[in-house]
Amino acid sequence: MSSNAGKLLDDINNLKAEIETNIKTAKEESSLEEIRLSALGKKGKLTSILKGLASLSPEEKSEIGKAANELKSYVENELSAKKESFEELYYEKLAKDEWYDVTVFPPRFPEGFLCSKERGRIHPISITQNRLEEIFTSMGFSILDGPQVETDFHNFGALNFTDDHPAREMQDTFYTEQNHLLRTHTSAVQARGLKSLKPPMRIIVPGRVFRYEEVDASHEHTFYQMEGMIIDKEVSVSHLLFLMHTLLDEIFKRKVEIRLRPGYFPFVEPGFELDMRCLVCGGDGCPVCKKTGWVEVLPCGLVHPNVIKTGGLDPEKWQGAAFGLGLNRLVMMEHGIEDIRYFQNTNMSFLTQFN
Ligand code: PHE
Repeated sequence: MSSNAGKLLDDINNLKAEIETNIKTAKEESSLEEIRLSALGKKGKLTSILKGLASLSPEEKSEIGKAANELKSYVENELSAKKESFEELYYEKLAKDEWYDVTVFPPRFPEGFLCSKERGRIHPISITQNRLEEIFTSMGFSILDGPQVETDFHNFGALNFTDDHPAREMQDTFYTEQNHLLRTHTSAVQARGLKSLKPPMRIIVPGRVFRYEEVDASHEHTFYQMEGMIIDKEVSVSHLLFLMHTLLDEIFKRKVEIRLRPGYFPFVEPGFELDMRCLVCGGDGCPVCKKTGWVEVLPCGLVHPNVIKTGGLDPEKWQGAAFGLGLNRLVMMEHGIEDIRYFQNTNMSFLTQFN
């Protein structure tokens, strides 16, 4: 190898050692880019070393070229490893500086934290939801969850709503640009349950749902439901009614007056609306019961064979019952709350009354 080539190799090795020290001693992420530019940039040290290539033989050129490429990838790797270690340090420091124990009361926050010194509370809807979950799990039900941003198939198609079915208009909602939608009911999880569990099965699905609604004392765009579904060899309306009674008795701990009306939902046959006597006004008529004295809390019915079939089961072998409890309305009846808008409100004097 000529002495020129030898010198270039030495220069490359020296540059490597220099960069190594620079990376090792770098104190912050922003200096990494400087190191990279001064070594590998257009006006960097490697470029000026490689100017010496012109006087070399083709074999030497390729040897030095190889060494230069190795240096490049070595430096890139070292820089990205160092960058990662800066990130790790950052998060370690964050975890140390901003750590606090959420289970300690009164809370001890790091200095400079703005926060309420009051103990957090459980939302009235969650309180009732938790109670219902206990009741249903004690009867052998599993609790299922599903996405709030749903496909048209799960929210409508699998529930026997054809594309042009007028019943879709009863549940208008918000669509994303990718044609997903905010689920209008927890029934959207029925097909997921049917597909993922083996019959016989009993499930409840508590969760948040959305409608494109004119908001008033009894309508919200965002509210909560609890779906229930049982699938077994023989399921009848009397099983359904037993479930409904158990549920209401447990919640209200007293006899509540109910009535059953035919109700239409494409995914049940027969379908019912179960109303209860309005407990806000005692049946005299108020904004919550739209002056009728009755409140719809429990639409329900026997699962339509098409739903069972779409769920992958044989409707000749399996039958089902389902209900869709309106959690907000139930909680309103439970506590005599006269306006559904309170639930989404941050009004502390409302929210702190329940536990
Ligand atoms: N998903 C229906 C609604 O939100 C309620 C329902 C559930 C009706 C299950 C029947 C059976 O309006």
